[in-house]
Amino acid sequence: MCGIVGYVGEKQALEVVVGGLRRLEYRGYDSAGVAVVADGELDVRKKAGKLANLESLLGEDPLPGSTTGIGHTRWATHGGPTDANAHPHVSADGKVAVIHNGIIENFAELRAELTAAGVVLASETDTEVVAHLLASVLPATGHDLAESMRAVCRRLEGAFTLVAVQADVPDVVVGARRSSPLVVGRGDGENFLASDVTAFIAHTRHAIELGQDQVVELTRDSVTVTNFDGTPATVHAYEVTWDAAAAEKGGYDTFMSKEIAEQPKAVADTLLGRIGADGLLHLDEMRVTDTDLREVDKVVVIACGTAYHAGMVAKYALEHWTRIPCEVELASEFRYRDPVVDRRTLVVAISQSGETMDTLMALRYAREQGARVLAICNTQGSTIPRESDAVLYTRAGPEVAVASTKAFLTQIVACYLVALYVAQVRGNKFGDEIGSVVRDLANMPRKIDLVLDTAEDVKALAAQLQDSRSVLFIGRHVGFPVALEGALKLKELAYMHAEGFAAGELKHGPIALLEEGVPVIVVVPSPRGRSVLHEKIVSNIQEVRARGARTIVIAEEGDESVVPYADHIVRVPQCPTLLQPLLAVVPLQVFACAMATAKGHDVDQPRNLAKSVTVE
Ligand code: M6R
Repeated sequence: MCGIVGYVGEKQALEVVVGGLRRLEYRGYDSAGVAVVADGELDVRKKAGKLANLESLLGEDPLPGSTTGIGHTRWATHGGPTDANAHPHVSADGKVAVIHNGIIENFAELRAELTAAGVVLASETDTEVVAHLLASVLPATGHDLAESMRAVCRRLEGAFTLVAVQADVPDVVVGARRSSPLVVGRGDGENFLASDVTAFIAHTRHAIELGQDQVVELTRDSVTVTNFDGTPATVHAYEVTWDAAAAEKGGYDTFMSKEIAEQPKAVADTLLGRIGADGLLHLDEMRVTDTDLREVDKVVVIACGTAYHAGMVAKYALEHWTRIPCEVELASEFRYRDPVVDRRTLVVAISQSGETMDTLMALRYAREQGARVLAICNTQGSTIPRESDAVLYTRAGPEVAVASTKAFLTQIVACYLVALYVAQVRGNKFGDEIGSVVRDLANMPRKIDLVLDTAEDVKALAAQLQDSRSVLFIGRHVGFPVALEGALKLKELAYMHAEGFAAGELKHGPIALLEEGVPVIVVVPSPRGRSVLHEKIVSNIQEVRARGARTIVIAEEGDESVVPYADHIVRVPQCPTLLQPLLAVVPLQVFACAMATAKGHDVDQPRNLAKSVTVE
């Protein structure tokens, strides 16, 4: 939540910063603002609403030229989405400007202290206290902004990323990080700070991960990182492997439609190099020993939103292949219920962004209890993999649309690779059985491509259903989390009532929701797998149809048994039941995207949401 950019170099800072904010707007769009250092002064422009509002303001009231600047795009926490609460916040003496992501938990106490000292605060934010505190400390540090930042950070509680500039010292940008993302981009005669590498990927691919409780000082030619106590810090430099085009729309109307279309490649990339010529899995990069895996007696998956649904799918495969009991839990609930985890528990933390605070806090709690934590993550260098014992990266490339799509498919694939690997190590599965699943997985990109061919049909269906008051989704087995995911997509994009149910649960209450014409989307498992599962859901389709529902059925090619009861059929290629979520969810993504478009909503930036939820 909240996007942060800082720049010092030879280019016009405003262009670099606003360009970076455009790429970070997915992180929050309640307001945007910039500050530049010019002629010994700070110049700030900020505006409530999307970045476009700030750009209009900059057109009417331009900033002076400058090669040092910072910028922010906000997801509001403390204080509403107003101009006054927009970042940057400037100290009362006009000498320091600060932008912030996260929450400063002791801000009320700090605010009271400042008020008692006669400072008049201009906003309702927690951020503003940092600007005033920095200004008060600067004289004592000889106007050393990095030293002042360290001193102020030592007083802050909570999770935060801060970036500041100082009027009197041009060509210096200082950042600080605790439990919130901040990455350095190293250029030639220029350096960058950002919440995410997408902000500077058009300028450089050389990145540096910052660790916990570190402060970084950027000049044009130097990057100096220290710990909050002033000692030199160890950092990890890396190269970003994808290029700027990966974070562009590339001819699509929305990032979401582009990301849906990228799913075959994302799945193929996530499998790449992880299956040896011997047909066995090689996940050495995971940094967890076979001995550790043999000792595991329980798996607990923790995640939020779409990643939680991926975990629910994974549970079916993991228990089936490894016979290890698996629980899947919303990360936001996990640590508050005294969960039973110990050193023989493998906790799998799934997160696209690697920043989700609920998941991060849950994994910290799990580690405190002695559990080993394996992260499944899409964002290199992010906090969740850094704080985990082991990591398996998904290779979805940047996911910009707030609604998660390709991350979901790759999370399932990565979980399946882990499950198969555990089965391989523990001897639950023999090489030929693993080889057979692996071959099925390798066929999935081609099959997902075939599902994408049904997109026009699904869009036409969405156009017909756009005035529905409610849409229900049902499924059984792995189709149940797919139903939940379909409903989540529709809620977040089309702002309409949508609910997913286990099909068997319908008659225990939710069936009362049915009335004439209510669309019910049914995820039908393969008739070739466990036929009883298929038979049961065919009965469920009949039950809802008998009560007037309009049945939209996602069924395998060749499954004729659903035809008499379906008002509309979307076909997916044949595949084993456990892999079907990788196909069945795709029409649901397209449906939600088309529904939002038909309703005139912003598909990539749905209201009230942000891509990375970095507050609890
Ligand atoms: O970055 P993460 O995977 O940890 O994010 C978890 C959820 O916030 C995320 O999946 C969210 O539910 C999506 N907006 C759903 O489309």
